[in-house]
Amino acid sequence: MTRSLISIDDLSTDEIEAIFELADRFLDEMATPGKPYRVRGRRSLARDFILSTLFYEPSTRTRLSFESAMHRLGGQVISSAEGASSSASKGETIADTVRVVENYADLIVIRHAHEGAAMVAADYTDLPVINAGDGGHEHPTQTLCDLYTLRATRKQKNKGKDLSFNDVTIELRGDLKHGRTVHSLVYALARFGARIIPSPAPGCELPSHVKQRLARDYHCFLLRKQEIDDLSDDDRNSEDFPEFVYVTPKEPHQRTLWTGAEANVWFRLSLDQRKSLREMKTVDLIYATRFQKERHDSSSEDDAAEDYPAIDAKMLNEKRYRQTQVMHPLPRVDELSYEIDQDPRGVYFKQAAYGVPVRMALVAALLELFPSLLKSSVAPRHEFFSNVEGIRCVNARCVTREENEQRYLSPKFAIVDETPLTLRCAYCDLEYEPSIVSRYSNKKYTDDLSEWREIYERTPQDLVLFVSEQEAIDAGHQRRHGKKRSAAQKVAATPTAK
Ligand code: NCD
Repeated sequence: MTRSLISIDDLSTDEIEAIFELADRFLDEMATPGKPYRVRGRRSLARDFILSTLFYEPSTRTRLSFESAMHRLGGQVISSAEGASSSASKGETIADTVRVVENYADLIVIRHAHEGAAMVAADYTDLPVINAGDGGHEHPTQTLCDLYTLRATRKQKNKGKDLSFNDVTIELRGDLKHGRTVHSLVYALARFGARIIPSPAPGCELPSHVKQRLARDYHCFLLRKQEIDDLSDDDRNSEDFPEFVYVTPKEPHQRTLWTGAEANVWFRLSLDQRKSLREMKTVDLIYATRFQKERHDSSSEDDAAEDYPAIDAKMLNEKRYRQTQVMHPLPRVDELSYEIDQDPRGVYFKQAAYGVPVRMALVAALLELFPSLLKSSVAPRHEFFSNVEGIRCVNARCVTREENEQRYLSPKFAIVDETPLTLRCAYCDLEYEPSIVSRYSNKKYTDDLSEWREIYERTPQDLVLFVSEQEAIDAGHQRRHGKKRSAAQKVAATPTAK
């Protein structure tokens, strides 16, 4: 089965490690003398393959490092660098574009302004598709470069090369709202158990759908300073200690011990966590990002830009940052002072250089140049459901809201919870709680939510869910009258875990 990389979750932990080992191998064999992070020369591994880059948004690093990676592997590249110079400007849909390009190339790398665009591309071609950034949603290959850089710097410190980052504290600075690199990165960090300190610019906090995914899929939750019983008064009052931090328990079941006021019980139980509280006072890595001005309303721009957190030598002199590495996906604007370029803690140019070996390894893996490197598929975390009618995603940047794409695209949702029933837009991750169940075939609705599972199992294409009764009425559905179902019937139809 063809594998694509749309979300960082599309790769298992073992597969990420295998990709990194292959990147290590490329660097061992091809590094520039004196620059162990830079690949030079060319192999003929991919000589029979063509990579196509479809970039509908500006890019320097991502596109050029993919192209460089393909050339270094011995392959060819064809490129559509500007939306304006491609048929998209004539109204061509993503589905049509990839169905054409699949005849010209063997792998597609796509960057697009709409969230979920890369997933649409992958759904309409048999070729592997790589998401090189879809709006403010995800940028999984940047995350591979970020993790590889983190792993490399830890390797130098002899802390091993595996991906268990549960002794790492990472501070995320800047635009956590629209920074797609940040979103893919936090999912990976939560998966690998790192502690995450969000330090957003005003108005640039992590969006709620990202926080929901952190909690649901990775059992990662926010811990506030005031809620930690084990803290000494000195720590509680110290500025060195972050106000809040995201942590992921090693064992997901421990999470269930943490509910509101019981938080302290869990923390008193866990020695590991007590140790980790102390470690929160020093930061191992700052991940800085620029203000994503192209994704903000112009009205919010001035406020955020004014108080945007900047990193300079003075800040890195503070006790908690003395050993801190600084990463940035680049490009930078004013948030990262040029004076750090000479400081060995600034690793952002190496991080950009690692883009080549990491993308060489990813391309080689997806083209199956090393057949056993990736499994044939990774089991999805959730079941999916296509809503032909019913709930529409309200995110204006979601690909399902685009007029062009609406000609053929139905909203698609992951069923992320059953009590209460919660759907997540498969394209952009926004979550919805339906309150009305209806049928496509007879357009009769009920607010007895327990019926949804029965319809879904028997005739999924007949299931229609709405968030509100008004939406059902507006869509021409009518309330179903008639015999009320008995409690026993309802129980029989109650969802059961698959
Ligand atoms: C990032 C992007 O495009 O999201 N750049 C990159 O790919 N290295 C970050 C940004 O544009 O700020």
